[in-house]
Amino acid sequence: MDIASLRREFPVLQHCIYLNCGTYGPLPTAVADELIRWYRRIEMEGSFAPEVLQDLHEEYEAARRAAAALLHADPEEIALTRNVSEGVNIVANGLSWQPGDEVILTDEEHPGGACPWLNLARREGIVVKLLPLANDVQVILERLEELITSRTRLVYVSHVSCQSGLRLPVAEICDLAHRKGALVMVDGAHSVGQFPVDVRSLRCDFYAACGHKWICGPQGTGFLYIRREHLSDVEPIFVGWDTPMHFDLQGLAFEPRPDARRFEYSTRPWPLYPALRVALERILALDPAEIERAIIPMAIALKGALIDIPGVKLISPWDPSLSSGLVAFTHTIPGDLGQRLWEEHRILVGANKDRRWVRISVNAYISSEELDLLVCVLRQLAEEAR
Ligand SMILES: Cc1ncc(COP(=O)(O)O)c(C=O)c1O
Repeated sequence: MDIASLRREFPVLQHCIYLNCGTYGPLPTAVADELIRWYRRIEMEGSFAPEVLQDLHEEYEAARRAAAALLHADPEEIALTRNVSEGVNIVANGLSWQPGDEVILTDEEHPGGACPWLNLARREGIVVKLLPLANDVQVILERLEELITSRTRLVYVSHVSCQSGLRLPVAEICDLAHRKGALVMVDGAHSVGQFPVDVRSLRCDFYAACGHKWICGPQGTGFLYIRREHLSDVEPIFVGWDTPMHFDLQGLAFEPRPDARRFEYSTRPWPLYPALRVALERILALDPAEIERAIIPMAIALKGALIDIPGVKLISPWDPSLSSGLVAFTHTIPGDLGQRLWEEHRILVGANKDRRWVRISVNAYISSEELDLLVCVLRQLAEEAR
């Protein structure tokens, strides 16, 4: 992977050290150009011009095909969404529930992934249980086995924990849950775009992802995989003119489409999707396996350097097979470290000042020199504080 040409794709890298694609990825020029090109075309030709509508429709379907290719799914199993949370809501609210049905979530889920299930607990009386994570596959599987009961309908896990960067053993979790009769939904906020994801070999039932983090696509784009055999078990909750396969107002008849398009209902911010297509095709062309090969050694080296800094406690796992490009740690540096790194050094990280927690997103466009500089600054701040 040619890092120099990769870096040239992102103008923002000339102005700062961008270590937070785990929140929002930087935008490559090609993706920004596609967005602008579409809005200009609409400005000049009109939104409802037949050629514009036709071309946008083709681009939209091409985005769906690219998302399917990235997940190794069929396009009929992919709904284009606006974010991860929308994908989770589609599944949580579309399945039918009985009071007392159980859903297991890990104790490191993001509110975007957890709230749809907690909302079901409020509205439908389901029971939500927490699976405590550990940086150890065996421990996770044993804890899951203990938590699952005959009432467990679904297990919800992040592919990569947003708290620690731990890469979860999704295939093993799916096998265990399926043996016990439970479905598995995976939160792919931090996986797609940084390593290969194959929903068939993971054997999951649902997989929700977004375009705006590691894929470096436009904000407000996402996609949801629903395994073909579950498509008819998930009822569309929001419906509109683009939902039906069959609509007859006089006959009071309405039939949603049979494929995942049944979850897409009306006018969307259409120009975002050609830009998402460009972002997805960029990841496919780079090859997710190559991206992973660039990221993991840098993330491991960063962990090694961080633990020598006084007061720093690594949260992320050491084992490369459990590692991702998210590297998280706590520290004892006073003040708002995230803000100081940005204001004094133009280094952008994810941080929580109350928990003294910092999360570094190591993507393939990051250079080792940038990570060395981060470590150097952190060491200096930690030594000043002693
Ligand atoms: C693990 C995880 N899930 C879900 C979300 C929510 O993402 P979105 O804004 O795409 O719904 C985030 C956002 O950071 C996340 O880290």
